[in-house]
Amino acid sequence: MSLDSSIPSHLRCPRTRTRRVSDTWKPAVPAYSALGPQSIKQLVMAYFGVQIKSDETKGQACAAFRTILQSFNVDDGPARHDLVQFVDGQGHLNLIAVAYWEEPEKYHKWNDKPAVKSWWSSDDRLNDGVGYFREIFSPRMEQFETIFTAPGPLEGVSILLGGLTEPIIEHGYWGSMRDRLPLSQTDTMDPSGELALKQGTPAKGGRVIVAGHQNLTLIRSGEDWSRTDGEERRTWFEDIQPVLLDGMNYLRDDGLEVGCYCNRYCYHMDKDGKVEEKGFGVSLWRSLSNLESWAESHPTHLQIFVTFNRLAKKFKELVLYHEVSVFDASAQYFEYINCHPKTGVMRAFAA
Ligand code: HEM
Repeated sequence: MSLDSSIPSHLRCPRTRTRRVSDTWKPAVPAYSALGPQSIKQLVMAYFGVQIKSDETKGQACAAFRTILQSFNVDDGPARHDLVQFVDGQGHLNLIAVAYWEEPEKYHKWNDKPAVKSWWSSDDRLNDGVGYFREIFSPRMEQFETIFTAPGPLEGVSILLGGLTEPIIEHGYWGSMRDRLPLSQTDTMDPSGELALKQGTPAKGGRVIVAGHQNLTLIRSGEDWSRTDGEERRTWFEDIQPVLLDGMNYLRDDGLEVGCYCNRYCYHMDKDGKVEEKGFGVSLWRSLSNLESWAESHPTHLQIFVTFNRLAKKFKELVLYHEVSVFDASAQYFEYINCHPKTGVMRAFAA
């Protein structure tokens, strides 16, 4: 098996920091990273959410969500999006459209269109009877990495990149996520600054805008169990999924103590809102090192990691992937409208 670095050749540079393994490291099973054209320099990942407290307002939530989705269907709209849902720790239903652009300029052109800009900024949004949020991130390709346990299909923002590497060297050991980030060749990616309230008061509702900080980190870590059957399906439902959900609930409810600002375990929906057998945890972290520490020490992740590695060679249909980004402070935007105060990064202020 010929191995390649997960870092695309055009992003390799003279190192000031070493990789954790030697050039002769051979992982036990293959894994792959998404690979895009050199022309893609910076991505945009946008989480547009509608939040409701009870089923009585589901009609309003669906109407509001449809309006957001319609706003995508114009020039410079997102190149693709996923529809997902998540019930948060306060029991609120959150419908989220995760939209991706392959360049910030296009996103800004779209976002500056009067129909988008004025809809989000209108005071009418304060009176729709639902909560809204938008969390927008823009990693440079040096600040972005992925891992896939199978050579396809691509998921998430990686679909925009369109391709996969050969089997990669940088996986199968703790610290490999960091080694896949091109910036790790020269930078520790330590966080600096703090989350800051720019507008509003989370406990009062209304419109709240939060400023991010340098090297805030996002992971979207997903699984597709729709094609599993027999022993593989049993293993997913009995040995992996329950432990995964324990880990996700821990991060959702108590993650702040380990540097996790917010965690949502989201289920994909089709365009009619039907939940699919496919999901991902998406979480925001103070730092890459906080995320590393959780992954290598929390009993839930250790247990699913061990189960997966024990059976990895037997898994045929269970597909896992993740995408991880660190962001410049200026490449993050958080806005919440009438959401409960533990929504998203507002939770950091509720503590
Ligand atoms: C790495 C399993 C869900 C965070 C890994 C690896 C495996 C694994 C096998 C090692 C990959 C490699 O380098 O070869 C699983 C399974 C999951 C799951 C089976 C679900 C069914 C999650 C979730 C998160 C997460 C939801 C985050 C919230 C991480 C991180 C690493 C990692 C950060 C990289 C650690 C490092 O390289 O230092 N996981 N994982 N995982 N996982 Fe998971």
